[in-house]
Amino acid sequence: MIPRVTGFLHGGDYNPDQWLDRPDILEKDIELMHAAHVNCVSVGIFSWALLEPEEGRYDFKWLDEVIDRLYKGGIYVILATPSGARPAWMAQQHEEVLRVNGQHQRMHFGHRHNHCLTSPYYREKVRQMNTALAQRYADHPAVIMWHLSNEYSGQCHCPLCQQAFRDWLKEKYGTLENLNKKWWTTFWSHRYTDWAQVEAPSPMTDTSNLSMLVDWQRFTSWQCKTFIDNERESVQSVTPKLPCTANLMERFWDYDYFSLAESMDIVSWDSYPEWHNADNVAEAADFAMNHDIMRSLKKQPFLLMESTPSQVNWKPHNKLKRPGMHLLSSLQAVAHGSDSVQYFQWRKGRGGVEMFHGAVVGHDGTGDTRVFRDVTQVGMALEKLQSAVWQKPIKPEVCILFDWENRWAIDFAQTGQMGNMRYFDTVNMHYRALWEKGVSVDFCDMRACTDLSGYKLVIAPMLFMLRNGMEDKLHAYVENGGALVMTYFSGVVDEYNLAYLGETPHGLTDVLGIKTLELDALYPGQGNALVTENGRYEIGELCELIAPQGAKVLGTYESDFYAGDAAFTHHAFGKGQSWYIAAKLSQEGLNAIYGDVIKQLNLAVALQTKLPAGVVTTRRGECIFVQNYTDQAQRVTLDGAYTNLLNDEALQGTCTIAPFGVWVLKK
Ligand code: GAL
Repeated sequence: MIPRVTGFLHGGDYNPDQWLDRPDILEKDIELMHAAHVNCVSVGIFSWALLEPEEGRYDFKWLDEVIDRLYKGGIYVILATPSGARPAWMAQQHEEVLRVNGQHQRMHFGHRHNHCLTSPYYREKVRQMNTALAQRYADHPAVIMWHLSNEYSGQCHCPLCQQAFRDWLKEKYGTLENLNKKWWTTFWSHRYTDWAQVEAPSPMTDTSNLSMLVDWQRFTSWQCKTFIDNERESVQSVTPKLPCTANLMERFWDYDYFSLAESMDIVSWDSYPEWHNADNVAEAADFAMNHDIMRSLKKQPFLLMESTPSQVNWKPHNKLKRPGMHLLSSLQAVAHGSDSVQYFQWRKGRGGVEMFHGAVVGHDGTGDTRVFRDVTQVGMALEKLQSAVWQKPIKPEVCILFDWENRWAIDFAQTGQMGNMRYFDTVNMHYRALWEKGVSVDFCDMRACTDLSGYKLVIAPMLFMLRNGMEDKLHAYVENGGALVMTYFSGVVDEYNLAYLGETPHGLTDVLGIKTLELDALYPGQGNALVTENGRYEIGELCELIAPQGAKVLGTYESDFYAGDAAFTHHAFGKGQSWYIAAKLSQEGLNAIYGDVIKQLNLAVALQTKLPAGVVTTRRGECIFVQNYTDQAQRVTLDGAYTNLLNDEALQGTCTIAPFGVWVLKK
């Protein structure tokens, strides 16, 4: 994926620009990097003020020296474009770069990640800066990749963005008449008679038009993509062979990452789990899913671009990682497809809000710390795993449909659990049922999903919006032998966020053998239960009333006026089959259902054994990562003779894995 790189990357964000008056520290950094088995750093992420101290005057001398020194030290450089934060002079002289918030107030200079997405001046300045960087460092042997900006996010409501939104709508809808129709604007007399009347949704304007809300998300996501394209073209027109990445974020909502990923060569992301809080296993399931989404964006290994070596500085409670957790959480990323373990940050700065954020090197400036030893251990582990794991693929038999536009539409919908339909969490519960059993999963959105035939199982939790002909794709998939799990609140609206007329789930009632009738929302603390032949499983939040039309009823509601009615069904259709789960089931209930589905479809699991709670297994290539997310030693019975590649130990029979321990097993 990255020319010249022949193994895992290990390192992190490096801010030598904060230490230019301390050459002794900069020299020492290289020595410490070697000691920590670090081989790669990201440089220049927030360096614009030093790179262009005044408009049009560039200063690259300091960066030349930094990159040369790293090269001499054998450290790869991921070179950043600095658009994530602008210099003060730019904000002072060119107000249009400053973002306007939803209250229609223009922000002043400060913070970061807050530029206008449209500003032609800013795009041009970014293009010039990136071109200059590319021309200067195109052939530098240390530089392996571009790190475009930092954590793109947010929206801007300035007049330039408003106009760009209108232009985008004109392109999409052609006529105002069509827009009025697709946006259902006769409701509350919101019909537009002039394009200039259309304003971006905000608390100052209108948030009552659900079609507009989704379009605004689509537009801002597209605006960000064009911003990235501008960045990418400016560097790759000079250095076509250097790949580009942009660091993404967990559970990110603002932009459609499937679409943004098309604008980069490699996906990378910043992972900051909250370990040692209420439930480590739930946290691990959440982050495993984030990793798998990142791998799925391009269906290739990704890079863990940031993680903390110890603690962060921005959560309400900034807890240290307990012994073992650094290696465990780093290798979790690797198990799910990462080809790197990178940190924020290499060295703690002396000031600024991040002065207390975890770093490989603390204010004491030595390698003689617990954190430094933890980091070194990861560096050594990555070296040991190189031949068996680096670049190795993961080949799931299961695909979960996870779609950003659907997510936006669900979050805007005013029904059920208002504003709290918990789409991401729900997808995560389905995912967790498979993850706990060691079943690998791909994610796909409705646009990218063109061929499902390679999967034994497709899961579509809460597929509220059906777009891009998804109903036809699912129809064909099941008809030709596929297995589908679908849930309540599916197939309700079209891509314009307009309700489908007729029976729902739209276009899939024959596949599922049911139709939906009504959606009931329970108050907090209230519950129901699913009763099946095998057990009773808690239900909360949402209960859909359905009418079987050919499907076999596998479970019914326990109570309320719909007691005894179908809540879980199975249907044979064509050469395939489908299950429909009509209510928000507890994790236990989902685990039971997927336990049966795994057996029935004979899905591959990483390790054929019954695992203790909190121990999970993940397969990458030929290796099985056994991970203990509990603070207790656990006994694991292996299904054969293995070697733990981390320490070359032979393991067989029943073995003890340490608290927060990890093994990487090979047969
Ligand atoms: C990331 C960001 C880094 C740093 C880090 C702290 O979101 O990209 O620059 O702020 O958080 O955890």
